[in-house]
Amino acid sequence: MLTQDMSYAAVMTRKNEIMKASLGIDFNDYIHSPISFDFERMMHETGYTIEEIAKIQTETKVGNTPLYELRRLTEEVRKFSDPGKGAMIMVKDEAANASGSFKARRASISAYVAALKGYKGMIAASSGNYGAAVASQAAQRGLKCIILQEVFDSRGVGQPEIIEKGRACEAYGAETLKLSVGPELFYMLLRTLEETGFFNASLYTPFGIRGVETLGWEIAHQIQDRYHKAPDAVVITHAGGGNLTGTARGLQAAGCDQTRIVACSVDLGGLHMASDTDFNKKSFTTGHTGFGIPFATWPDRVDVPRNAARSLRYMDEYQLVTQGEVFYVTELLTKLEGLERGPAGNISLTAAVTLARQMDRDQIVVVQETEYTGAGKHHNSQLSFARNNGIEVRRGDPKENIPGKTIVIPECLEQVWGKVQDIDKLRNSYLKNAVNHYPLTDWDGYDFEFLAADIKKDVDWVKRQVTRI
Ligand SMILES: Cc1ncc(COP(=O)(O)O)c(C=O)c1O
Repeated sequence: MLTQDMSYAAVMTRKNEIMKASLGIDFNDYIHSPISFDFERMMHETGYTIEEIAKIQTETKVGNTPLYELRRLTEEVRKFSDPGKGAMIMVKDEAANASGSFKARRASISAYVAALKGYKGMIAASSGNYGAAVASQAAQRGLKCIILQEVFDSRGVGQPEIIEKGRACEAYGAETLKLSVGPELFYMLLRTLEETGFFNASLYTPFGIRGVETLGWEIAHQIQDRYHKAPDAVVITHAGGGNLTGTARGLQAAGCDQTRIVACSVDLGGLHMASDTDFNKKSFTTGHTGFGIPFATWPDRVDVPRNAARSLRYMDEYQLVTQGEVFYVTELLTKLEGLERGPAGNISLTAAVTLARQMDRDQIVVVQETEYTGAGKHHNSQLSFARNNGIEVRRGDPKENIPGKTIVIPECLEQVWGKVQDIDKLRNSYLKNAVNHYPLTDWDGYDFEFLAADIKKDVDWVKRQVTRI
């Protein structure tokens, strides 16, 4: 029997063939240059309308989630807002999806396509909710499932939230491959895809992002039916940017082109995601700047040749919040609204408090997701873990928060204030990355137009900026 060379170098050289066989998409059909490709055609050629996607999702308990007014929280915000200010805060309860988060939307079309094309199973690399979502969708389609996770630091200590997600994957019948933090994840993914011949349910394929479009679409219709207008702002927790991309596209497809799209991440500035020692110094495993900034400013750093998640294309604003602020707002959601929900959605909820106090009373700000909570996802578990890792936890002014050193839990809601990031800086950083990937002298008109659309600016703006790089 002929055996394949499984060395790192050999597997990497087979990367493109492995991708093509495991996904059925030839990215070369869309690629124009090292920095540009036909994004809209790639999305379109997934082959389903948004209504068809919604129908596929109802088969596996995805979508049609409730949208709630958070009346008591809104009242609290109005108490310290200027007269006439204090927009209504609403939340889309995505914990109601099978597996407990919006990630079920993201996994659902991959599972459908994998079953349709006769694959026997699905594989994804995810230390988060996505793994559980793929496992849950695979189970319902009668497919096998393997999830690769980065769980441990080099001492063998696992982040509590990631351990909980591993448990969930296994509960839904998946096999999990648990790795420590490091570069071997992509190699292991390719190897496993090649060895099994399973479908590549990467987070970043057009199937994944098109699945999230129904989230924005539902919000638009629910608000329209109830209030006869579009939402004024939608706040979206941002890590890899697929949540934002899919939701914004769904809102646009439903005609909400004036809705303000606000990204939000937990500020973990100063912590390094690939660092063994920093790995367990954070209390959030997603929705933080350690993913948010690098992915917004160079989306193609992923496990497929081109990423369908491109958040700067749709983003109007980017808010940052602190870990302590999110923990405080998580408690308020439970105590005031009777909803005990998990960390990622509450990141956006925290930003929504800041936004609502600046927006008019008759406006609506929608927090576009919740996720389930429990075990290692719960903030009590995270706070104990933080203390055990030498992090000081105390009450006070959230401005004193230092990622990896101190978690400051606000003393009152009025102290929740987040901060706005300069998104032109992010745009410039994206353009710098593009110049580093492909010499400016080789760029043609298509490249300029692609980049302008990819950062939501015009070609003249891009031209002005790149001359300064
Ligand atoms: C519940 C939840 N919300 C938000 C996010 C962020 O989504 P994205 O990585 O697409 O930005 C994640 C991703 O891990 C998640 O699991």
